[in-house]
Formats: sequence, C-alpha cells, structure tokens
Amino acid sequence: MTELDLRLARRAAGSGDELSAILSSVNAPGMITFSGGFPAPDIFPADFVREQAVAELGGAAAVALQYTPTEGLASFRAVLASWVKESQGVAPDDLMVTSGGIEALQLICRTLLDPGDRVLVESPTYLGAITAFSGFEARIDVVAADHDGLDPDALAAALATGPAPKLLYVIPDFQNPTGAWLSTERRHALVALARRHGLLVVEDVAYRELGFAGEQRPSLYSLAPDVVVQVGTFSKILFPGVRLGWAAGPPALIPHLVRAKQNSDQCAGGFGQWLAESFLRDGRLEAQLARARAAYAARWAAMSAGLTTHLGPEFSWSEPRGGFFTWVTGPPGLDTATLLPRARECGVAFVPGAPFHAGRDVHHTLRLAFSATTPDEIAEGTRRLGLVLGADR
Ligand SMILES: Cc1ncc(COP(=O)(O)O)c(C=O)c1O
Repeated sequence: MTELDLRLARRAAGSGDELSAILSSVNAPGMITFSGGFPAPDIFPADFVREQAVAELGGAAAVALQYTPTEGLASFRAVLASWVKESQGVAPDDLMVTSGGIEALQLICRTLLDPGDRVLVESPTYLGAITAFSGFEARIDVVAADHDGLDPDALAAALATGPAPKLLYVIPDFQNPTGAWLSTERRHALVALARRHGLLVVEDVAYRELGFAGEQRPSLYSLAPDVVVQVGTFSKILFPGVRLGWAAGPPALIPHLVRAKQNSDQCAGGFGQWLAESFLRDGRLEAQLARARAAYAARWAAMSAGLTTHLGPEFSWSEPRGGFFTWVTGPPGLDTATLLPRARECGVAFVPGAPFHAGRDVHHTLRLAFSATTPDEIAEGTRRLGLVLGADR
C-alpha cells in the first residue's frame, strides 16, 4: 500500500499552533489561566438567553434557526447600524454581519491579498490577525507603537519606502496584546496619512466598548469612513459562544466581502443574530457593558496589585485603561517560551510574547489576560507567576 502523501499547500505548512494552545487552555483543571482573551463567564447574559429561547424562539424559529442572507438578517443589520451610529456618531454607509471578528479579517484577506502583498501592522499585535495575513502569504511589515498606540511618524516612514501596502491593520482601543489606547491626536494623524496615500485602514474595535471608565475616543471609521473598514465583534461584550461580528466600510468594498463570504460559510448563524438583535432592541446592551467594565476594572486592579507584589524590578508591564490584557517585558536575554513547562507545574498559564511580534526576534515579553479569572484567582495566579519568573532571575 502506498503511504498517504499529504502535500500541504504553502499557506498551511509552517503555521503555528499558538492559537489552538490558547483555546485549549480554557477550563484546564487546577490551572489559573491568564492566557486566552476570554470574557468573564460570570457576566454572560445567560438568563436572557434562557428566557429568550424559552419564551420567544417558538415564534421566531423560522428565522432564527434558518439560513440567513450572506450579508446578515436585514432586521439585525438595521439594529446594528443604529447602535454604531449611537455609539460612534457615524451611520455606516455599508455593513455586513460576519461569523466573528476573525472571519471579517479572513474575508478582507481573501478579497485584497495576493501572495507577497505588503501589510502593515503595529508591533506587537493580535495573533489571529498575524495568522490571517500570513495564511494569505502577505509580507507583514511592523510599525512601531507605544502606550499611545501606533506611531504616525513610523507609519509615514513605512509608507515612504517599499511597495504600497494593501492595508494597515490597527487595534486603536485597549489593544491586544498591550492594552495601548491610540491617542486622539494620533487618530487624526493616522487617517490623514491614509487619505494622503490612498491606504485602506482595517480598524479592529474588539475592545472599544470596554474602557474601565467607559471613556471613548473617536473611532477611525467615524473620522474617515472613506478609507477605513471597521471590524467588530460581539465576542468580548456579549458572548463568543455564538460567533458574531461585523464589517462596516466603504460601499466599494463591502459587496466584495459579501462575495468572499459566499466562498466561506455563506452566512453567519441566524440564532446568534436573532439573539443579539433582541438584546440590542430591548436596550440591554448598556447595562451589560456597565457590568463588564466594572468587572474588568476590578480584575485589572487585582492584577496590577499582584504584579507589583510578586514581580521583580527587572519586569515592567503596561497599564491598560480598558480591555483584557497587560503586556509584561522582562530582562533582555529572557526567553518566556522556555518558562512554560515550569508555569504548567506551578498551575498558571500565560502566552509567550514572541508570536505577537510578527516575525521579529523578540523573546522576553509575555501577555497576561485578566478577563476570565476572579480577583482572588488573580491574586493567587500572580503569586505563582512570580515563582515562575523569579526562578529565572
Ligand atoms: C483584537 C481582536 N480582534 C478580533 C478578535 C476575534 O474575535 P472573534 O473572532 O471571537 O469575534 C479577537 C479575539 O481575541 C481580538 O483580540
């Protein structure tokens, strides 16, 4: 018998398993996990889902349990568009529903990227986006960023050299993985540059609504809907158990994304759209967001206290004003990936920083998520983390 000769496509060979490792760490027994960007399960609106399913599904089953149009249910798109208008002050020119934020990124890649095309990203940035861009064989170039987000001078320099990038990917609010918050001044500078260069900006607003104090800065999409496509998700503010997100952007682009979705899962699940529509229509989102902001603020306070107590002076970390993450930097020469076995023994999980750096050779960083653990668990988890990181001192 001839042995199976699995001739993988170039794009499948060499892709890392970091994301699967993160997803599988959820619920590992005895483990305090700071690894995944998971929302707090105790604030999932489970009662609403239960009541809605029991009381309302009967009358809505023909829609909620059926296939939906590729661009999403018209009634949900209308509710979603009016929420975007209310919270960002811009009525979307065009908007489609996606199966989570990550699918919106995939559709953008599928639509715009040929192998070798240049994509600009902040460094470090969201692993899922790096995986999506490299899966489409893009050339990823990094642009410097600090606690005020992407540096427009560095962006101008990147735009002045090399082939014109197909897109710039940026997470302006409470960034994954650093928690950085793009300053208002830089937002204006960034969209001015994009307009000058005819550059498409992909704005990922996954954590936008989760500022601890509820503060917001203008979305890039509200400043320049002509050159920005906004990718959003309900995963962080409602629940990731139904995969639900959106893409809002220039009317010249969205129909191409809808076409690409026909070549993907064809439509986002009707059940999730129906649930989210009911949730928004009933006006429940503001109270949910208030609960989420308070929970994450308390968790960050616990993590900040724990890191201060347990980490040595050679470690520093970012101080987010919202979102799920802090980014820890250790002494040069430290390789945080080599600490994983010891972390496992100690019962604490984190994500080594290297893969977030998009191919740059940086190993002394790590990401901690404080979103899915209680303040008590965070206190104990940071104590364990101190043991793991201290062992290398
Ligand atoms: C910045 C960012 N964008 C998008 C996503 C994807 O979210 P989902 O596909 O669950 O909607 C995540 C999830 O971790 C994220 O951190």
